[in-house]
Parts: sequence; structure tokens; C-alpha cells
Amino acid sequence: MEQVQQTAAPQEPVVALIPRINIAAFCDDQTTAQAMQNVGADRRMVQAHMEVQLGGIPAAIQAYTNTKTPDVLIIESTKQRDGLLSDLGHLAHVCDPSSKVIVVGHVNDVLLYRSLMSEGISEYIVAPVHQLQMIECISSLYADPDASPVGKVLAFVGTKGGVGSSTIAHNIGWLFSKNYATDTVITDLDMAFGTAGLNFNQEGGQGIAEALSSLDRVDQNLLNRLLTKYDDRLSLLIAPGSIDREVEIEAEALDTILNVVRANVPCVIVDVPNIWTPWTKNVLVQADEVIITATPELASLRNAKNLIDMLKAARPNDDPPRLIMNQVGVTKRPEIPVAEFSKALGIEPTTVIAFDPQTFGTASSNGQMVPEVAAKSEAAQNLVALSQILQGQEAPPKQGALGSLKSKLATLRKK
Ligand SMILES: Nc1ncnc2c1ncn2[C@@H]1O[C@H](COP(=O)(O)OP(=O)(O)O)[C@@H](O)[C@H]1O
Ligand SMILES: [Mg+2]
Repeated sequence: MEQVQQTAAPQEPVVALIPRINIAAFCDDQTTAQAMQNVGADRRMVQAHMEVQLGGIPAAIQAYTNTKTPDVLIIESTKQRDGLLSDLGHLAHVCDPSSKVIVVGHVNDVLLYRSLMSEGISEYIVAPVHQLQMIECISSLYADPDASPVGKVLAFVGTKGGVGSSTIAHNIGWLFSKNYATDTVITDLDMAFGTAGLNFNQEGGQGIAEALSSLDRVDQNLLNRLLTKYDDRLSLLIAPGSIDREVEIEAEALDTILNVVRANVPCVIVDVPNIWTPWTKNVLVQADEVIITATPELASLRNAKNLIDMLKAARPNDDPPRLIMNQVGVTKRPEIPVAEFSKALGIEPTTVIAFDPQTFGTASSNGQMVPEVAAKSEAAQNLVALSQILQGQEAPPKQGALGSLKSKLATLRKK
């Protein structure tokens, strides 16, 4: 009988899975492009999205003049130091501050390396590039415990039950994944009455409740199992939506779970129920951005004021929360005019959405999003505009990773 030879597996560096990020490579030569294709096909890249193109820096500049640069931008240049720095100076105009840039060059030049590092370039690799070297390099950008987390947490809360906070949160998550190719996880924290599953027409799943009861082993693997995949870019951490099981929530436990999610996904939408507990307060205080949805009524005004005052005091170095006025203009309902409402709060609403039971009712009974059932409706347009603002697309000209390159270039040339 033939013996199966038992050989030890060859030693490969232990490289963590690359997060659910967008990566684009603009190569200047075929060999590098092929290596990048191999990077994209690697098992450690199953969650990430990789695009490889030829054309180097000029092609990248053209591609990103009107669109946001990806989480990681890899660019190759065959030029010498001055040519490369000058091309990068042009790239700086279109590069988003949050993008990490890896440069593949053809010159082994310490001076060049130093000036690139001081300009916020994440890494400089001299060609030829080996695929594993590149994977390790990308992974290391996210492995550093001091590095900022991959994902932003956006917490949505209503000033009362039923104001439409969950509906808006779900639509925004869906728009992020569809219009901005941003991998998004929607986390529904309303254990008993959560609607994320219903609104996306997804059945069952204990999602978040299961994660809370398995805290000692919450890691990426467990989360991947508990996430309900809606499509390639959007996943849901669904609440049980049942009153059979009482789920105890502690603020630290929820922090642990959200940290694992955000370590791996660029955008985490948290649908916070309208209840006041230490953990809801903690989620709001810790979020990168808080979006408060209010209806133009007295109770909403009082609650919005309390929420905004609390958040401003607890987050002195952050922007104030955003205010969305929703369900405005209900026939025969006495309402506080939006202008008065926002004046009393000292915050302009980011978006005002009219009461439109036909559109919202159809979306919710179909288990679809508003832009899916009525793309041309005012409601859909309001939501699209809101998603654009929350993506930071209304921001002033980009001053990013490469922002100061131009001034630096001037100094370098004088040397
Ligand atoms: N602008 C609107 N016009 C009409 N109905 C709306 C509007 N916004 C939300 N709704 C509906 O209000 C109901 C409550 O919304 P939901 O998002 O569950 O509220 P919350 O999460 O604040 O409790 C849902 O049926 C939803 O479709
Ligand atoms: Mg809700």
C-alpha cells in the first residue's frame, strides 16, 4: 500500500485576512499588473475588493477626479525621483485624506523613500513586487493596534418611537453600499422589536443577540457567521425581533462587538432603539457620527434638546449630532414649523423629509428600500442627498495623505 507522505506545511508568514475594503492598483508595467492580479486572487483577499488597471499615476488621476479614492490606492511609477514626486503632487489634488497610498517604484533611493514617508505615503516598495509582500504590506496597514480602525460608526436614533429613524438608517446603509461601493454592516440593536430583517426582507437569525451571548469568543469568524448577507457589499446584524428571549446588554459587551465589526468593515450603521439605558447612551457617545431623527412635535423637540445637550457635553471635540426632520406635513396635525424647531435647538436640519405614507408604506410592506420602490420621489432624493453628505462628498477640496506634497516639492527642488 502506498504511504501518504506527511510533510510539514511550508512556512508562510501569518497574515490576517484583509478587511472588507476597496483596493485599486494603477500599474505602469505588465509584470506588476500580473502580480497585483495574483494579490487579488489570494485567499486572504476574499473579503476585499480589488481592481487592477494599467496607466500608472495619470490613469489614477483621471479615475478619481470626480470620485472618491479607495481605501487603499496602489500606484506604480517607473520614473526617477523628481518625475515621481511631481506626478504624486498632481495626484495629491484628487486623493482623499482617508485613503492609504502605497507606491511601487523602480528606484531604490533612500531620499525618495524618506520624503514619501514624511508626506504620508503608507509604504514605498521597489519593483519587482512579489504578491505575498504586497499582501503583507496591505495587511500591516490595518494590523497596527494604534492605527485608526477601518470602519466609521454612524449611530441613528429617534426622538420618539416611530419617527422613522430605523427606516432612514437602513436606507442610508443600502445607499452607501449601492452608490458608493462602501462595504456596510447595519447593526440592529432593537432586540425585541427590530425591523432591519423585515425591511430588507431577510428571515430569522439571532445575529446580535447571539453575539452578545458569546462574548468570550466574539471574533471575525463568529461575526461572519452571524451576519446576514444581503448582497456583496451589504450585511445585516439582525436582532431576533422576538419577545421570547430577554437579551441583557452591557455597554462594554456592545463595545466589544462593534469594535470587531468596525475592524473589518468601512461603514457600520447602528440602528439605536428609542430607549434610554447606559448602553444606548454609550453607543451614541462613542459613535463617529450621531444622526437624530425628529418629527416636528413638542415631545420630539424636548427629547431632541436633551439628546443634543447631552451629546455636546459628552463629545466636546466632535461635531454636534446631525438633525433630520422627518414626517413633516401630516395633514391636520398641528406642527412646530421646521425653522422654529431648529432655532430652538441651535442646529440646522441636514435633511427635511415630508410625510409620504404612500412611498414609505410601499417600501416597508415590500421589504424594499425607498429608492427601489420610488427612485424619482422626493423622499428618495432626500435620502440620496443625505447619503452624499454622510459620505463626506460635500466636503471642501481634498487635503489628504498627499496634501502637503506640493509645498514639500517646492522645498525639495530648492535643495
Ligand atoms: N417620511 C415618512 N412618511 C411616512 N411614513 C414614514 C416616513 N418615515 C418613516 N415612515 C414610516 O414610519 C414607520 C416607523 O418607522 P421606523 O423607521 O420603524 O421608526 P423608528 O425606528 O423611529 O421607531 C414605518 O412604517 C415607516 O415606513
Ligand atoms: Mg426603530
